[in-house]
Amino acid sequence: MNEFHQQILKGIPNQLPNLKTYDSEINHAPKRKAILSDNEKKLALKNALRYFDSKFHATLLPEFKEELETYGRIYMYRFKPEYKMYARPIEAYPGKSLQAKAIMHMIQNNLDNAVAQHPHELITYGGNGAVFQNWGQYLLTMQYLAEMTDEQTLTMYSGHPMGLFPSHKNAPRVVVTNGMMIPNYSKPDDWEKFNALGVTQYGQMTAGSFMYIGPQGIVHGTTITVLNAGRKIAKQGEGLAGKLFVTSGLGGMSGAQPKAGNIAGCITVCAEVNLKAVQTRHSQGWVDEVIDNLDVLVQRVRKAKANKEVISIAYHGNVVAVWEKFDEQNLYIDLGSDQTSLHNPWAGGYYPVGLSFEEAVELMVKDPATFKEKVQESLRRQADAINKHTAKGTYFFDYGNAFLLEASRAGADVMATNGIDFKYKSYVQDIMGPMCFDYGFGPFRWVCVSGKSEDLEKTDAIACAVLEEMMQHSPAEIQQQMADNVKWIKGAQENKLVVGSQARILYADAEGRIKIAKAFNHAIAAGEIGPVVLGRDHHDVSGTDSPFRETSNIYDGSKFTADMAIQNVIGDSFRGATWVSIHNGGGVGWGEVVNGGFGMVIDGSKEAEQRLQAMLFWDVNNGIARRSWARNKEAIFAIKRAMEVEPNLKVTLPNIVDDKLLG
Ligand SMILES: NC(=O)c1ccc[n+]([C@@H]2O[C@H](COP(=O)([O-])OP(=O)(O)OC[C@H]3O[C@@H](n4cnc5c(N)ncnc54)[C@H](O)[C@@H]3O)[C@@H](O)[C@H]2O)c1
Repeated sequence: MNEFHQQILKGIPNQLPNLKTYDSEINHAPKRKAILSDNEKKLALKNALRYFDSKFHATLLPEFKEELETYGRIYMYRFKPEYKMYARPIEAYPGKSLQAKAIMHMIQNNLDNAVAQHPHELITYGGNGAVFQNWGQYLLTMQYLAEMTDEQTLTMYSGHPMGLFPSHKNAPRVVVTNGMMIPNYSKPDDWEKFNALGVTQYGQMTAGSFMYIGPQGIVHGTTITVLNAGRKIAKQGEGLAGKLFVTSGLGGMSGAQPKAGNIAGCITVCAEVNLKAVQTRHSQGWVDEVIDNLDVLVQRVRKAKANKEVISIAYHGNVVAVWEKFDEQNLYIDLGSDQTSLHNPWAGGYYPVGLSFEEAVELMVKDPATFKEKVQESLRRQADAINKHTAKGTYFFDYGNAFLLEASRAGADVMATNGIDFKYKSYVQDIMGPMCFDYGFGPFRWVCVSGKSEDLEKTDAIACAVLEEMMQHSPAEIQQQMADNVKWIKGAQENKLVVGSQARILYADAEGRIKIAKAFNHAIAAGEIGPVVLGRDHHDVSGTDSPFRETSNIYDGSKFTADMAIQNVIGDSFRGATWVSIHNGGGVGWGEVVNGGFGMVIDGSKEAEQRLQAMLFWDVNNGIARRSWARNKEAIFAIKRAMEVEPNLKVTLPNIVDDKLLG
């Protein structure tokens, strides 16, 4: 048995590993705010120590206490494994279940230094999107996965592996819940407290569900958004050339904006306060130029406009200053948005104007109340400046980062005259909802767990052939989506988007997802490629109930319900998913959304084909049915089409009331 197998099978070691030094080369999670009382701190320590034999408690207690005091959480750094963390080829994992090995591949990818935002704190993206709460949970989970058979299911409570329970081979191998709370205990401070106690975690979307595939997932979605935003404002035949897109954030997801702007063909100005983030994206070639002086920025943008350059510029500084300066200088902005992390406004997601990055980081911990006031003041200023631009014609959309929500809570002028809606639509209301989700198009993805780039190339070619064939007889309503997706998959290799596992994202509807997955399964059976994991982002047609984002274009009053996401995950689990996950807060923040997803391993077998057919069909059409019941006309079209194809599908359709009748 090789060393790696031994390490995995050992789980929590029976000898203490050496203490680890704090690696300052790594991007670490910010210190979390001190929220526990003295008694609660004791409880947090007691909770952490229960993972270890009592003979180690005296040694570990002061160490964990120091972690709690210094970082606000107990990460159990000592137990971070020595081996390199990355998605190994599937046969490198020990175990009795191919499905469980594929899950180990996905977990290690989410924690890879090259992929994860704060790998040592087990955070994949979004500042607080955790795979596990601590290294003890990681070690135990990997051990369970390596031991389990296809007659068992691993139950995971917010990163904690509760254990293996007997099930059967068609059941999911893993069932994940993250941050599920009694509804009244779902405020941001509840996350701070219960996460510090070690009893819950924020799994974001694809962090705690082991489905993150690096930045390409976001590049694709962002490109589609910018392209379609451009189409919305375009006069006949006009493209995005010479048009200016202003936004903020060069972090995990937001960092895709300049690259997407370049693919869409406009001028992008993206403000970012954190120099490290600016440097990372610049060195990766995701943004073309860096400017840290507002006057220089104005001149550069004027030149780019005059020459209709396709260029992306990082402004190192606060985005509020950009909106204000461009207004003062009468520099016309065509498209505007914001991608600061306002789903996490008080703990490092948004930096207020008027403070340097370092000052803000310090104030956030030392005086959270003043920090909150500064954030709210900054949001009011930002909204005022944006309003001045939109009065001149700028098309502004909320990027699903809770900007309008937090701005409204700060008392900013962002409410529509009816006092209920916001002045501006979200990108889902205006763009992704009607143009993609209502038709069933969403971020389908797959991972070649052989780890071979040749396999990914072959799957790209297979997917492209399937789409091109489908395009020949797809209705006019979805021709644009199909064309965009064919273009994307054709350019995917050239755009070199793989970071970490051999993964690909491709927006597709139910028919496309099923046909592509079946074609992969046949290629696996023929020995042309190795096993494949199918999945998707939670940010999709059916998986997520999020009133300010994924379901913001639901207008029948049901957008504050979460039945769809729960139905989705339950339905996926008995139709053949290999793992399912249901989370609180993914994308827009704790308490604001319920989001779910799945992973499915296909191995070329007949059973895999049956599973993918049943599960993918449900996984998309559940959401279309709900969107159709909410009277969304694109979804009514799509569900009627689905019923024609599948006689066993019978969905309740809405009768449309004449508004005149209601007066
Ligand atoms: N890209 C997408 O497709 C997409 C879709 C939906 C939602 N979102 C949302 O976008 C947000 C950003 O996600 P992320 O993963 O990039 O988060 P992140 O925390 O990695 O990045 C946000 C960046 O914004 C910077 N920032 C904060 N305040 C600033 C300010 N005032 N001026 C300039 N820069 C500032 C931060 O330094 C940070 O680098 C999240 O709320 C996410 O849910 C993104």
